[in-house]
Amino acid sequence: MLDINKIRADFPILSQKVNGKPLVYFDNGATSQKPQVVIDAISKYYQEINANIHRGVHTLSQLATDAYEASRGKIQNHINAKFAHEVLFTSGTTHGINLVTNGFASILKPGDEVLVSALEHHSNIVPWQMLCEKTGAILRVIPMNQDGELIMAEYDKLLSDKTKVVTVNHISNALGTVNPIKYMIDEAHKFGAAVLIDGAQAVAHLKPDVRELDCDFYAFSGHKICGPTGTGILYGKEAWLNKLTPYQGGGEMIKEVTFEKTTYAELPHKFEAGTPNIAGGIVLGTAVDYMNEVGFDNIQQQELELLEYGTKRLLEIEGLKIFGTAKEKTSVISFNIEGIHPYDIGTIIDKLGIAVRTGHHCAQPIMTFFNIPGTIRASFAFYNTKEEIDAMVAAVKKAQLMLS
Ligand code: ALA
Repeated sequence: MLDINKIRADFPILSQKVNGKPLVYFDNGATSQKPQVVIDAISKYYQEINANIHRGVHTLSQLATDAYEASRGKIQNHINAKFAHEVLFTSGTTHGINLVTNGFASILKPGDEVLVSALEHHSNIVPWQMLCEKTGAILRVIPMNQDGELIMAEYDKLLSDKTKVVTVNHISNALGTVNPIKYMIDEAHKFGAAVLIDGAQAVAHLKPDVRELDCDFYAFSGHKICGPTGTGILYGKEAWLNKLTPYQGGGEMIKEVTFEKTTYAELPHKFEAGTPNIAGGIVLGTAVDYMNEVGFDNIQQQELELLEYGTKRLLEIEGLKIFGTAKEKTSVISFNIEGIHPYDIGTIIDKLGIAVRTGHHCAQPIMTFFNIPGTIRASFAFYNTKEEIDAMVAAVKKAQLMLS
């Protein structure tokens, strides 16, 4: 069981007032808050070991390099990757996905097919569209039902020898649906297709086991798991990473450079051109340690309670409709109130200290499917409480009164 008061004390921002009211932070799907240990680790890096990595023989450079590589090792353990060099540091999920789509540009042929799910964030749609435009491959969409669940019977029908890549999120950012990715990966592999999992929304709620999943790529962002912004990880199976061409050329990703020809460095450096976000990469390890200390069983238990309580309380509001009613769902509640634009509710409840995201959540095709302009999205983290849900429900009711 979580000692919620102790957990909340780890996050200085949570005791702030916003617009004169106690902050209720329910925009965790957009970014998580940061515990003091993470904030301190950023200062400590700059105060004590700031230097460039993999480049110097001097002591500080060695200390920074060791800390950076130790963090890679922590993340390798966290996701159960076979090798540390299968763990690439990126600036976030979007970077990871673009790295993969860029690599596939020299692999896909006209007529090959890429399957993308109807539940994707734009960052797992647009890079694949760009790749298809470049290569002549065809993008096909795995449809969903009214509950916001992918339809596996339709997925099975779409898979064929033409399928080269399947790309799907582990958890939908807009609706909270947890997708049956293990089944999807196994079925895609029967046709020899590679599978990329967008884990951006999953990693805050669970510990992905990339070997058990047997996914080919798993991308996520550090800032969703209490880490700094501008950090992320792309896991790729060694064989795939060796096959893909590098995303960016530059320093540290080479073995030898002449004006005639360049040969590339071994993994992971082949994909890590230029000076990276060194402090961010190191502190991402601190954030992963923190999440593991809290414990993913505890996190899941707390978030499930919040999901159930939040759903029950919100449904008390007349005219409120929840979008995303999948059987497997995480602590995200997307909703609208009849006759009121989501933006108006979001603006009023902000004045009451409640932070939610409103709009299409970078998932316009989902909004088009439901024929709505957007939703109000409350996304809960393990440091949220039922009292905060009560405050949100009271604020939404007040906004509804003002706007009707
Ligand atoms: N992808 C993030 C969200 O869903 C920013 O809010």
